[in-house]
Amino acid sequence: MFDGSMTQDRHALFSERYASGDMPWDSGITPPEIIELLALLPAGYALDLGCGAGTVIRDLLKRGWRADGVDFAQRAIDIARAKLSEFPPESHRLFRHDVTRLDDLPALRRDYNLIIDIGCGHTLGGDGMANYASAVSARLAPGGIFMLYASHPRPAGQCPRDPESTVGWAPRQVAEVFGAQLGLHWEQRGDDQAIGASVSWYKLRKRTIIDSRQEDMGSDRLHERKRR
Ligand SMILES: C[S@@+](CC[C@H](N)C(=O)[O-])C[C@H]1O[C@@H](n2cnc3c(N)ncnc32)[C@H](O)[C@@H]1O
Repeated sequence: MFDGSMTQDRHALFSERYASGDMPWDSGITPPEIIELLALLPAGYALDLGCGAGTVIRDLLKRGWRADGVDFAQRAIDIARAKLSEFPPESHRLFRHDVTRLDDLPALRRDYNLIIDIGCGHTLGGDGMANYASAVSARLAPGGIFMLYASHPRPAGQCPRDPESTVGWAPRQVAEVFGAQLGLHWEQRGDDQAIGASVSWYKLRKRTIIDSRQEDMGSDRLHERKRR
């Protein structure tokens, strides 16, 4: 299930934190950025990457969505399964799996209307980040939305619970790497007291054929003006 020692290390770290109940991210409340978006969107298919204890999935199901969750920590999947037991089994699926290997999970759809990542993918660097962006894009329907919550990079040793951690994505990197695959609609910066880091929310959207044609027409016009 795991590819590489970095994923194994992070799996061990998260498993340990779930076992000891050290889960400051698990507030039991879905962030307002998601709730506000759900108020605007018709129910569809959603995927929560690094779904943790399933709180966001519960709010999706309450609003008539069908939702899948992926997390590599068995304890997270167990907690989520118990939390979602009141909903019909066909409304949701939970996969214990590594999000860096989504291609090995063919059960996932390729037409999600909404994909959410709250504090999961931002540990990936270099090619891992680019591959993750492609994997997310490949699973979104045209026009589908990706809501990403990622911490900014911080110096090693700054995170007391995770001393080796230099995790994080700079907003510039997200705009470059994800923006190549998806259109960036907005970014909101803030500080997350629970993890002691600067963070950003991003709303990205998979381009439709019409969006891409309009972009092409826009750049054709630009070239035309430059030639004159
Ligand atoms: C900071 S927690 C956030 C959990 C949840 N999104 C929330 O907001 O409550 C990050 C979650 O991502 C999971 N995770 C981290 N790296 C992962 C990976 N490579 N594959 C699957 N899950 C991963 C962890 O087990 C953990 O549940």
